[in-house]
Amino acid sequence: MKIFIDTADLEEIKTACCWGIVDGATTNPSLIKRAVDKRGGKITLEDYIPEIIKVVPGPVSLEVIGVKEKEMVKQAEFLYNKFSSYGKVAIKIPINTCIEKGGDEYEGLRTVKQLADAGIPVNCTLCFSPTQALLAAKAGAAYISPFAGRLDDYVRVNLGMKSGVDFGRDDYYDSDLMKQILMREVNLKEKGTIAQLYVDSAKGSAAAHDSGVYGGVELVKKIVTIYKNYGYKTEVLAASIRNARQVMDVAEAGSHVATIPFNVLNEMIRHPKTVEGIKSFTADIVPAYTELFSKM
Ligand code: G3P
Repeated sequence: MKIFIDTADLEEIKTACCWGIVDGATTNPSLIKRAVDKRGGKITLEDYIPEIIKVVPGPVSLEVIGVKEKEMVKQAEFLYNKFSSYGKVAIKIPINTCIEKGGDEYEGLRTVKQLADAGIPVNCTLCFSPTQALLAAKAGAAYISPFAGRLDDYVRVNLGMKSGVDFGRDDYYDSDLMKQILMREVNLKEKGTIAQLYVDSAKGSAAAHDSGVYGGVELVKKIVTIYKNYGYKTEVLAASIRNARQVMDVAEAGSHVATIPFNVLNEMIRHPKTVEGIKSFTADIVPAYTELFSKM
């Protein structure tokens, strides 16, 4: 699985690239804001973005800020033409930019299609359902970004859990456990009970799953399967990753890429038994062993 770093912070990007594990980077307006704020607003993005692209070995995703097809195409071409001379660039286009009822919900998809036809690699973003991912692949997206962590938030909140009270932003969400909770045992003799259990479970599971998925990792799994079934070239780029267990899950699911924030990369390298092991190996170094290295 390829690892992209999900940040616009140049120091974080440089540090992680030195570890030899970074294959690309993803940014979005919120991540750019964070990087700009960190430097007290004193960033000229025209100079800053090339610095990122030059350090990262693979594609750096840059997002448009418009919501209409024409402006998104223009902005995408601008970003691509301006920055692709420094390295690899992909352009992030939201799958559906419509926020008003009755508005045009296909601005994003048409933009993906136009850019793909022009040979500009598109990272289709803000994906929360397998059907959105199917449409993005058909329109020619190079990457689809399912937002695993935000879908987990959404499902938990739909079930009545309170963010910041019942779960923290970075807490792992076990959708398999949730399924088990929803699928209680049925006593086959009691027809009325079966019917009631079905009704109750259906209500529960409708609250728990959105578009047929119980959580972010399951969303990634389903998209991977659908793309495999039909041989789509679009790569699954698991996004909105909040913890190391999600990374493990999306890797197991066969995601082509996971874009991971710096704090989660730090979490991935740690284990208390590794610390314990290093301590005991260090304590066991006999002088003869130290002596060996003095000959270096
Ligand atoms: O990769 C998308 C990401 O930056 C959003 O992450 O944690 O804000 O949902 P998050």
